[in-house]
Amino acid sequence: MQRRQFLQISGAGLLSQFASRSEAFTGSTGNFPPVGFNTLPIPPLLTGGTFHLSLQSGQMEFLAGKKTPTYGINGNFLGPAIKVRNGDAVSLNVTNNLAEPTAIHWHGMHLPANMDGGPHQLIQPGASWNAMFNVKQQAATNWFHPHTLDQTGRQVYMGLAGLLIVEDANTDGLDLPKTWGEDDIPLIIQDRRFHTDGSFAYLSSMMDSYQGMYGNVFLVNGAVSPRASLPAKEVRLRLLNGSNARVYRLAFSDGRAFKQIATDNALLEAPVELSTLILSPGERAEIVVNCSADLGKNFILLDTLSRASLLMLSIDKVPAQITTTPKTLTTLNWLDPAKATRTRAFNLSMGMRMGMGMMGVGNASGSGAQFLINGASMNMARIDQTVPLNDIEIWEIRNVGMMGMTHSFHVHGTHFTILERNGKAANVRAYEKGYKDTVLLNSGEVVKIIIKMTDYITGANAPYMYHCHILEHEDRGMMGQFIVT
Ligand code: C2O
Ligand code: CU
Ligand code: CU
Repeated sequence: MQRRQFLQISGAGLLSQFASRSEAFTGSTGNFPPVGFNTLPIPPLLTGGTFHLSLQSGQMEFLAGKKTPTYGINGNFLGPAIKVRNGDAVSLNVTNNLAEPTAIHWHGMHLPANMDGGPHQLIQPGASWNAMFNVKQQAATNWFHPHTLDQTGRQVYMGLAGLLIVEDANTDGLDLPKTWGEDDIPLIIQDRRFHTDGSFAYLSSMMDSYQGMYGNVFLVNGAVSPRASLPAKEVRLRLLNGSNARVYRLAFSDGRAFKQIATDNALLEAPVELSTLILSPGERAEIVVNCSADLGKNFILLDTLSRASLLMLSIDKVPAQITTTPKTLTTLNWLDPAKATRTRAFNLSMGMRMGMGMMGVGNASGSGAQFLINGASMNMARIDQTVPLNDIEIWEIRNVGMMGMTHSFHVHGTHFTILERNGKAANVRAYEKGYKDTVLLNSGEVVKIIIKMTDYITGANAPYMYHCHILEHEDRGMMGQFIVT
């Protein structure tokens, strides 16, 4: 199976930006001349308790000789990585230096809803917003991004996103790669499409508003054709699918196995050995790739769905020290379905607003394609669900839409675990058996999750959100609001 996939890839030639060098890749660790690549940028790691984030406009040269107008956080594109510790009180001060309102959401964080940065916590141009909360969760790779009603997709596309890493006493004691930018490497994977003048071609095709934005140029940490220079040892990759709509199936060009050590919201109890990993928009995974025997070799991180090359990994450094990933990583708390108080249903479907064809470029309040949860599109004045604090609940999410639509269901303020996929516990993939906040539903799929809202009750003026993380679906109505009482 695996073998056939890679033969297919090399046979067809690697698409996108590596196309001209595809002959170097015939399924093994080829000797890929490291020329014409851009050094993989590593976002600066900010630590401490108080953080200042400035949302600003800028420009980048993604395509040679062309300037792309962008947004960034403390820079031109994307933002810093913020590292916090379980138990710490943190203050995140966000200043909006853009010419439009926005909101900044802390995706994956367990915090009070009024600090969550959803569409109700809008930051006007020139204004600042201070999110203050106590970190109360296990180590994880979370992230932050805009959550402006109807405008999230465009604002993320322009470049607003960054990592929010949680560490804890448990990870301190684990022999995992943890030297930032050396053997602990963040990878924010995105795709973009450009106009000929170099500007982003957001919502420029008829398909974009219902399929979501798919690009033909791949960026990792904001770089095209990136290359990472890595030590010959275990390397930890913190993967974030920061794309608006694209689902990736990640693998390495030599077919090598790797270990997944974390899902969205926590380490896995034990590493899971894989050779491919599916990540839908908003999902994260941490993996450990053992490169100890690879000094002098190059291989590529691929997306086997689009056949794109995402990142060249050049193992060209002698490590200062080695790590040995432990066999057990953490203990997770598994909620008992027998103790569930109720089951809630979430039906994800598609509709359209009358007066315009389905092909129209619409948003939640305009015309064109509409995305619905339980038959309704997002309304900030309507609370869709009321969840009692500390009740164990089962949420059944059904992708009932037609047209082969994929959705990526995300819940704010907490994590969940997956009980069943398509009616069976056995269908839950090994790498989904951990704390999750986002889950992929292919067309027709049904996923049952178990969830409990703890610690924070909310008011109707600051609800939590649940929504599809395909941002064009979210912006076209596929979002609902819940309060905790
Ligand atoms: Cu990452 Cu409500 O979003
Ligand atoms: Cu979120
Ligand atoms: Cu969707």
